[in-house]
Amino acid sequence: MHLETDDLGHRFPGRPWLFRHLDARLEPGRVYALTGPSGSGKSTLLSLLAGWSEPTEGSIRRAGIGHVGWVFQNPHGTPRRTALDHVTLPLLASGLDPRTAEREATEILGRFALSSVAAQEFRRLSGGEAQRLMLARAIAGRPGLLLVDEPTAQLDLPTARRVNDAIRRLATDATIVVVATHDEHTRDACTDHIDLARFEARDGATT
Ligand SMILES: Nc1ncnc2c1ncn2[C@@H]1O[C@H](COP(=O)(O)OP(=O)(O)OP(=O)(O)O)[C@@H](O)[C@H]1O
Ligand SMILES: [Mg+2]
Repeated sequence: MHLETDDLGHRFPGRPWLFRHLDARLEPGRVYALTGPSGSGKSTLLSLLAGWSEPTEGSIRRAGIGHVGWVFQNPHGTPRRTALDHVTLPLLASGLDPRTAEREATEILGRFALSSVAAQEFRRLSGGEAQRLMLARAIAGRPGLLLVDEPTAQLDLPTARRVNDAIRRLATDATIVVVATHDEHTRDACTDHIDLARFEARDGATT
């Protein structure tokens, strides 16, 4: 399984190029930090990688990537469901029996330092706990590709640090992870780095 971009470039109609000539090969077990100034096209590139929109030029090859997972800047869960429920559900959906699903969910919660809030309702979690839970839930769904957009943008430093620890633990053999971020600590928590600023179209050409 891998994902490969070939001479990838994108621009919106009537706008300058966001990036061009992006060649990258992404592998499972790696966590890729995607950086670049605001407006450089990080979120746009995530949606291209997901296959939600078509690139203006170049291509993306997805080899053996099944399900795509997303985690956004604002954690979005079910208010009255517990943290444990949030992680158990995707495991049940993947066909595990309830006991096995709950055991695995408990283990995943531990990996993301959420054991102490396993029985807590989503609406009672702190922002950092909720964000870590979103990462835990996403990884429980065993996506081939996991796209994470600005996971620490809303958080204070100590809280962000815990989320960054969780990012570090996303590397699993089954998943390619891409994290768009402005946070240098998040970048450091990743195994690899793609800097969109390097792929800016500098010549100002509009064709
Ligand atoms: N559907 C669209 N149509 C036209 N322009 C768009 C569209 N989506 C995004 N843009 C523009 O493309 C540029 C890149 O947007 P994008 O959201 O990818 O940047 P970003 O790097 O994620 O920025 P940030 O760090 O602020 O999240 C911005 O100038 C944005 O206004
Ligand atoms: Mg963005």
